[in-house]
Amino acid sequence: MKRILSYIYPVAKKIESDKNGTLEITWFNGKKHLNSKNANYSYGSLQRILKFGLEKINLSKVNSVLLLGLGGGSVIETLRKDFKYQKHITAIEIDQVIIDLAKDEFQLKAYEKLEIICDDAFHFVETHNQTFDLIIIDLFIDTQVPKQFLELDFWEFVLKRKSTNGIIIFNASLEKSLGSKLESIISYLKSHVYKVAVFEKVNQTNTLVIASAL
Ligand SMILES: C[S@@+](CC[C@H](N)C(=O)[O-])C[C@H]1O[C@@H](n2cnc3c(N)ncnc32)[C@H](O)[C@@H]1O
Repeated sequence: MKRILSYIYPVAKKIESDKNGTLEITWFNGKKHLNSKNANYSYGSLQRILKFGLEKINLSKVNSVLLLGLGGGSVIETLRKDFKYQKHITAIEIDQVIIDLAKDEFQLKAYEKLEIICDDAFHFVETHNQTFDLIIIDLFIDTQVPKQFLELDFWEFVLKRKSTNGIIIFNASLEKSLGSKLESIISYLKSHVYKVAVFEKVNQTNTLVIASAL
């Protein structure tokens, strides 16, 4: 019934989180979305942005995925349903409230070979030594990428978590102050012999960076 009503008007549910503020689940055009106060977190434009990135890479050679920033898990739905990607996915999320929503409201429990870890993404890349063929970096608090993820310390650890021919997809925001930070991340990746493609205004909003081995 909720699904049918959602074609007529969005039905919202609000959830409070210490880390992400007020979160809202909205039904829109027959599909549930997860939003923060000012941003779409999952299953709306965010899902289309990451799908655009996935279309640019060859997933047949990807045997493991690390997702930093689970949100409602819409990129996992894209990988499993649109790209028929069945291999292992490890997802890191700092907010237990979001993890519970992803499992209970967005059916993430149904996916096999999906490991969800409640941890700070920086701490995870710093302290784990496993490597991954694809690392998707989608870390936001509302509209902002937290500062530590724009520092080269973080990117140094990310490169250590990436397998030799691995690929990185980074969803960067459009904040003005991000300009020089993003430039230094791109230079850093290039200096470590990566091919870096920058796609601006993906879905009219975000900048997406894709780095792969030369
Ligand atoms: C845009 S949402 C991710 C959407 C998700 N990738 C998807 O496909 O639906 C951003 C997420 O980053 C998480 N996040 C922010 N800072 C974090 C941190 N330090 N460590 C781990 N997750 C973090 C937020 O809690 C939020 O769930």
